[in-house]
Amino acid sequence: MSVASSVDSSGASGLSFFERHEFLIRRLHSLSGLIPVGAFMVVHLTVNASVLNGPETFQENVYSIHALGKILPLVEWVFIFLPLLFHAAVGVWIITTGKPNTSHYAYGANIRYTLQRATGMIALVFILYHVYHQHGWLHMQWWLDLIEQFGGHQFRPYNAPSTAGASLQNPIIIAFYALGVTASVFHLANGIWTMGITWGAWTSPKAQRNALYVCGVFGAALLVVGLSALGGMVAVGSGEGFENARQVEDKMFESKVEQGLVDPNSHKKAHEEPPGEGEAE
Ligand code: HEM
Repeated sequence: MSVASSVDSSGASGLSFFERHEFLIRRLHSLSGLIPVGAFMVVHLTVNASVLNGPETFQENVYSIHALGKILPLVEWVFIFLPLLFHAAVGVWIITTGKPNTSHYAYGANIRYTLQRATGMIALVFILYHVYHQHGWLHMQWWLDLIEQFGGHQFRPYNAPSTAGASLQNPIIIAFYALGVTASVFHLANGIWTMGITWGAWTSPKAQRNALYVCGVFGAALLVVGLSALGGMVAVGSGEGFENARQVEDKMFESKVEQGLVDPNSHKKAHEEPPGEGEAE
């Protein structure tokens, strides 16, 4: 049964907004999963994995991103958060109103169909937490001051490796990140395969089998990148790794200030004082 015929109708035509525009909305949902959301995820995991080459490499990458300055929040909202919210909202709509078609696919495809929906829900919970944990959702000072006390907004761009690493020292949080990254990677890799069907890129059973193999290899490679990034961050967040990262970050910050590239009183820097003694950012 189609989604359109399985939901209550409303409006003059007897069809809801979603039902009237279902084809277009589903195509936009499909496209947004790859561009920009999927493409961003690949870049994001790769940049994070650059910490494995040493804290300076990751820190330099973060400086390059923050070189966008005042337009960075605009870029984040237009190319990352809004497309992701759109994809997630339509995804939740599909999951909560669509009928599982377990009798229509071959066994393997049925399992992947269910996993695509389950990993979408896991990715949603994980991404909401992850953005709260590192970024803080909204960059309003009163809000950031509030959520810092509840584990939010841990990342400081000018102390990128050490603050990201320090926020990833609790085994439960590490396990949740590992689950979230694994679910998101599966969702993208399997999603690219289902996209090829949605858009008619692979139609014959043989072409679909070949595409499944390519998507599987892509997913496995991206999973290695994602989990390595997590491991690299954990390692740099305590002990000698942390001390070394802080020294590297401080040197880079001083040099950027000297060159006039960053503001010496930047709120993007970690608190130097023990919590509670310093001025709130
Ligand atoms: C990590 C971020 C995400 C990426 C990279 C991503 C990527 C994709 C891709 C490429 C597809 C395939 C589209 C198609 O079959 O035509 C897809 C499908 C899907 N996504 Fe996502 N997605 C993400 C997050 C989410 C979230 C948070 C949800 C919400 C729960 C979600 C729900 C869905 C659903 C239900 C489908 C299947 C649509 C269908 O079979 O018609 N996704 N996703």
